[in-house]
Amino acid sequence: MGQSFLEIEGLNKGFGGLRAVNNVGFSMGRDEVLGLIGPNGAGKTTILRLITAILKPDSGRIRFKGKKIVGRKTWDIVNLGIACTFQNMRPFRRLPIIANVMVPCLSPRAMKRGEWVKKVEAKAMDALEFAGISDMALEKASTLSQGDLKRLEVARAVATEPELLLLDEPFGGLSPAETDLMAKSMHRLHKGGRFGRLHSEGPAMIIVEHKLQQLMKIVDRIIVLNFGTIIADGKPQEVVKQPEVIRAYLGEGGI
Ligand SMILES: Nc1ncnc2c1ncn2[C@@H]1O[C@H](COP(=O)(O)OP(=O)(O)OP(=O)(O)O)[C@@H](O)[C@H]1O
Ligand SMILES: [Mg+2]
Repeated sequence: MGQSFLEIEGLNKGFGGLRAVNNVGFSMGRDEVLGLIGPNGAGKTTILRLITAILKPDSGRIRFKGKKIVGRKTWDIVNLGIACTFQNMRPFRRLPIIANVMVPCLSPRAMKRGEWVKKVEAKAMDALEFAGISDMALEKASTLSQGDLKRLEVARAVATEPELLLLDEPFGGLSPAETDLMAKSMHRLHKGGRFGRLHSEGPAMIIVEHKLQQLMKIVDRIIVLNFGTIIADGKPQEVVKQPEVIRAYLGEGGI
């Protein structure tokens, strides 16, 4: 099953004396939604930054659809079909919200069907609708709350129509009701539900989240990291029962 979609082997990354990612290896198929969890500082964000080539590993291999990731430019990663949201949001604050999403719609990948400005605007609107902030399209991004900034971040990633979507704490700052809506949108996107002009084929996803109850509803598989090392990998319901996961992350209360 899609073994060659994403393959990571022997990945290591240190910052000074700290091993943030320690011999991490896993592969995922084209049809998977993978949760990546673990305590603060476990190395989750670092792994996403390695997959998107924002960071270079000290050693190890990452292949996406058989192509090497290490050493590529970040724009090249987008063209390959990988998009990522950031834990710390970085919008164009002085631009209207819709312009923030029109920029990724103008990427060579998203423009491959020869579309132009009206279509790009319509597509950006679809991405805002996906993220639930289309009613604010003309406001400046600087006016958004933390939760809405998070939704803008998701809209920007989705606008490039990725085949692999990496989400770093997409529920951060959202209320329970907003989290629910976002989770439903993600599930629908993965299942190939169309959002207007976006996506006929839903992307694979890696979702980093601390809100486990919500995460469990949308992932097929969970990888648990602790001090940069994978300590569990399997079905969500089974992983959360493993003693080492409880010890390192969940505590006796469970999720
Ligand atoms: N650019 C950097 N320079 C120095 N240390 C870093 C850098 N980025 C991450 N680290 C350190 O690497 C470790 C892993 O960080 P990372 O951000 O990957 O954790 P995380 O699992 O995403 O945590 P959180 O749940 O808090 O977001 C932490 O100890 C962090 O302080
Ligand atoms: Mg993080």
